[in-house]
Formats: sequence, C-alpha cells, structure tokens
Amino acid sequence: MSAQLEFDPKGMPFRRLGSSGLRVPVFSLGGWLTLGGSVKGDPVVDIIRTAWEHGINMIDTAEAYAKGESEKQIGRAIKVLGLRRTDLIITTKLFWGLREGPNDGGLSRKHIIEGTKEALERLQLDYVDVIFAHRPDPTIPMEEVVRGFNWVIEKGWAFYWATSEWSAYEIEEAHNVANRLNLIPPIAEQCEHNMFHRDRPESEYEPLYRKYDLGTTVFSGLAQGLLTGKYNNGIPPDSRFATAQEAWFEEVRKGLSSPEGKEKIRKIRELTNLAETELNCKVSHLALAWLAKKPETSTVILGASKPEQVIDNLKALEVIPKLTPAVLEKIEAILDNKPAPVVQTLRTLSPARPLPQGLSLKLEGSWVNLILTLSDTAPNTILMYH
Ligand SMILES: NC(=O)c1ccc[n+]([C@@H]2O[C@H](COP(=O)([O-])OP(=O)(O)OC[C@H]3O[C@@H](n4cnc5c(N)ncnc54)[C@H](OP(=O)(O)O)[C@@H]3O)[C@@H](O)[C@H]2O)c1
Repeated sequence: MSAQLEFDPKGMPFRRLGSSGLRVPVFSLGGWLTLGGSVKGDPVVDIIRTAWEHGINMIDTAEAYAKGESEKQIGRAIKVLGLRRTDLIITTKLFWGLREGPNDGGLSRKHIIEGTKEALERLQLDYVDVIFAHRPDPTIPMEEVVRGFNWVIEKGWAFYWATSEWSAYEIEEAHNVANRLNLIPPIAEQCEHNMFHRDRPESEYEPLYRKYDLGTTVFSGLAQGLLTGKYNNGIPPDSRFATAQEAWFEEVRKGLSSPEGKEKIRKIRELTNLAETELNCKVSHLALAWLAKKPETSTVILGASKPEQVIDNLKALEVIPKLTPAVLEKIEAILDNKPAPVVQTLRTLSPARPLPQGLSLKLEGSWVNLILTLSDTAPNTILMYH
C-alpha cells in the first residue's frame, strides 16, 4: 500500500447536496460501464487517482454496476491509493440486486438492509455517504421504503438516502411519509440530464427544487459520449457505443442513424462551432459547463474510461463563467428543446407560496383535477392535486 494521499480540492467548487450539510464537488466520478466493466484492475486505480489529484473526492457506483464488480474495484482502488475515508464521498445504489431470487432486488426492507450490507462488503467500507434507491419500486408501500432507508441511516451504514429516476410524485410521496412519521426524507435525486434530455430535471422537478431544496447528482451529461462529437462520423471501435455489451445498446447504436439521431448530430456540429469560435473550447466542455452552471445541479457525475478524459472534462470549469445570458440564448436557439413551464402541484400554490409571476388560477371541475390558466407561456397546463 502506498502512503496516504492528501486531498487537495485544487480549486474545485463544492456545493451543498440539496438541503443536506454534505458538500459535493461540482464534478464527481461514476463507475457505470467503466470502473469494473470496460476498465479493470490498475487502470481503475489510475482513473480514480487522476480524479482525486484534480479535486474530485466523490465516487458514485451501484450494486448492479458490472454485477458488483464496480463496487469491488472502487473499494480496492481506495485501499491501494490509501485514501482517507473522511476525505471521500462514496455513493452507491440499490434496486437491481445481483441474484434472481424474489427478495434479491427492489426496495423491500429486506433488500434495502441486506443489499446495503453486501455493498459495504464489496466496497470494503463501514459506511457510504449517500445510499440511493436506484429506481422507484411501486410494488412496495412507500412507508416500508422510507423506514428501510432510515434504518440503514440509524445503523450508521449511510449518512443520507436519495432517489434515482423517481417521478416528482414519488419523491413528494416519500417526503409526505417522512414528514408524517418524523423520519429522514431523501435529500437528492440522481437523474439523467444533458442537452438532449431535459424535461424531467428542468420541468417536472422544478417545484421540488423550490419546495424541498432538492439536490441533483446528474448523470450522462455527455449523453454517454455523444456530446463529445466523437460519434459525428460513425462509431469509433474503442468507444462505449462499440464496446458496451448490454442488449439495449443495440437500440442506442441504431438510434444514431435514425432521423432523431441525425438531428442530434446536426445540433452537435452547430454547438461545436459555437464552442470553438466563441468560447475557445470543445463541445464537450460546453455541454458539461452548461449543466454545471444550472443552480439545481449539485454535481455532474463524469463517466470516464481513461484518466485523460477526466482531465479533459474538467476544463469545463473554465467555461462556466463564459456562459453569459447571450451565449445561453444561442445554445437554446440551437437546441430548440427548452421544456415547457412546470406542472404545478397544489402544495406549491398554497397561500404561503404565491403563484409564479404571470400565472393566474382558474378552477374548472373538481378539486382533484384543476386547470391552470397561464397568461402567456403555457396555456392549459394541468395542475395536479395529490
Ligand atoms: N442512476 C442511474 O440510473 C445512472 C445511469 C447512468 C449513469 N449513472 C452515473 O453517472 C455516471 C456517468 O454517466 P455516463 O457514463 O453515462 O456519463 P457521460 O459523461 O455522458 O458518458 C461517459 C462516457 O463518455 C465518453 N467520454 C467521456 N469523456 C470523454 C472525453 N473527454 N472524450 C471522449 N469521450 C469521452 C467515455 O466513453 P468511452 O471512452 O467508453 O467511449 C465515457 O465513459 C455513471 O458512471 C454512473 O455513476 C447513473
């Protein structure tokens, strides 16, 4: 084992993860498909060392990544590098499990507790900082889910719990249960967010940012590499689109030559031109900076199959201040996919929380389904009551 590596944030900005006291780096590192998957052994150590040396002290993984191998390789790298546990933020996720048994996955109390213990064994750690519900589990009562994660926290196996790819309704339900039972609610949501995937993080969750100060640990900020521009002229043989084994990747590959895929490539070319001529950066830097600039983004989880990719992606930090309102407008004009204004929940419209400017409320029908009349922006947005 080498001597302990001291953590130097190297100018990395840190943000609080939602309403919690946990401070996370604006860019973190993730292990899906790469750490323990396409990359094994000492190259994993090299990627984590490089991230660490550039101010990234947060690593995200999941029980399902490379069937547990991702957690194992990350745990090994932490040991090999001699990283101090208190300097690190480690997050993992439960849902898919590693075996096929009826209780080996999902969000039952049984799997939450057993899954956490097994994940800690693979990571060779006593605790993770945040444990995520990797997906919602509609087959389990929400009270059991909230109580299960609270048990894990009470045992000291995690400091916080959070959700991933839950609907706003499900996150709201978890908060309601936690409030009613005086339990700890989820602090953050791990959601896909990139220039081509915007509706949920920018519209559906918008009331939750204001109401709960919901944090986000966003993933696939480069649309899995698409926003580097390296797929503009086909699929390079050493790239994820070529090497990923998962059956559904066949659809991803085919999608590149569909009309939608071609339209994305056209937009990437325009964004590349903007990045190079006006910002003196690569399109990948622009895509990551655009995401990191958003106030609702707590951390952008970077995926990387090589140390050089981590170093290259961190150049996005220099681009964030260059994203003036005028530049952001140009990006919107190219993307042409700005999500419609938020779907409001009734709670957001309580007397303590006035309507956003420009909205007026008109009741039509029952209290269960209300119609909002919006003055300018989005006529007939449905107001959901729950
Ligand atoms: N909660 C969830 O359901 C969920 C889902 C997905 C991801 N995540 C988390 O988010 C993390 C990041 O997601 P992601 O891997 O999809 O992110 P991403 O940043 O969109 O894609 C990362 C991939 O893009 C390519 N790449 C990155 N930087 C590059 C560069 N500078 N030049 C060229 N290619 C580059 C690499 O692929 P190749 O080198 O292999 O071509 C790399 O593996 C995951 O590791 C995981 O922790 C969570």
